[in-house]
Amino acid sequence: MNTNEQTFFRYHRRHLLGTEGLTPEEITILLDRSETHVQQNRQANKKKSVLYGRTIINLFFEDSTRTRTSFELAGKRLGGDVINMSVSTSSVKKGETLIDTAMTLNAMHPDVLVVRHPQSGAVSLLSEKVNCAVINGGDGAHEHPTQALLDALTIRRRLGHLSGLVIAICGDVLHSRVARSNIHLLNTMGARVRLIAPVTLIPSGIEHLGVEVFHDMDEGLKGVDIVMMLRLQRERMQGNFFPSIREYFNFFGLDEAKLANAKDNALIMHPGPMNRGVEMAVDPSELRGSVINQQVTNGINVRMAVLFDLLGSGSENSLAGSAEV
Ligand code: ASP
Ligand code: CP
Repeated sequence: MNTNEQTFFRYHRRHLLGTEGLTPEEITILLDRSETHVQQNRQANKKKSVLYGRTIINLFFEDSTRTRTSFELAGKRLGGDVINMSVSTSSVKKGETLIDTAMTLNAMHPDVLVVRHPQSGAVSLLSEKVNCAVINGGDGAHEHPTQALLDALTIRRRLGHLSGLVIAICGDVLHSRVARSNIHLLNTMGARVRLIAPVTLIPSGIEHLGVEVFHDMDEGLKGVDIVMMLRLQRERMQGNFFPSIREYFNFFGLDEAKLANAKDNALIMHPGPMNRGVEMAVDPSELRGSVINQQVTNGINVRMAVLFDLLGSGSENSLAGSAEV
């Protein structure tokens, strides 16, 4: 890939709210842009100044380790100012609504709001009210677009392409925004997606998204290139979706025996945080093909690319003309 040529193309939308509706070209632009940050993030001095003077606010109404930290690092490594708003110590606790909170922050003229919220659709609603770019850091069970992009970058860096690959997404699909964003992106890029879960954890009618559904791990994992495990989202569950954790692990937890059904060199992925002994064997690092750490690393590369492209809109010349691009 000639990265010099790639810098002339941009993702031109104002926000990044989901992977649904993104074109193959837009996805490729963001992945190619992410590649340009891989080397930068391997150097001792990881800092550039292309986003100097730009302000990014992380507004997380749900817990996060990876997404919030990597957006902060991404913004700082590009020279921007990053504010992490702690919702638990903010005026949200005094009853201020999501929209009023967003309007208040908007009045401080940030350039980007990165928002995570437990309600599906909340981030999109907020994006209609503010003047700045909005990035969805995960909304309810709806979408988590930068997760799907970092997953795609990790796959592409290991296997060279996405088209034609068979990917099994296993576990709590019903409550997973990671699953939805991955289904949209992977289908758009020509991969084939299988979903493997108990009947109770598969949304009814999901076949309409162009996926194959399995309820048996041995069958669903046969010959796959990639095994993507999902955490049980117990914070979103009301009622019982399976008899016990032990039974869930026996049938749907990934261990060597079930993995033997996949291709020999199959990649194992997990968005994190993982629950050992629930959806994963107690020590997943012993499972061959794990790229879970690479997913975390690529989270920074992807989030730098997204921030760069969103903040570049409307100031193409200043950014594209920078010697550091
Ligand atoms: N961290 C991912 C998310 O926020 C996956 C998970 O929490 O299980 O959607
Ligand atoms: N994968 C993911 O979004 O992780 P966090 O919830 O820790 O941000």
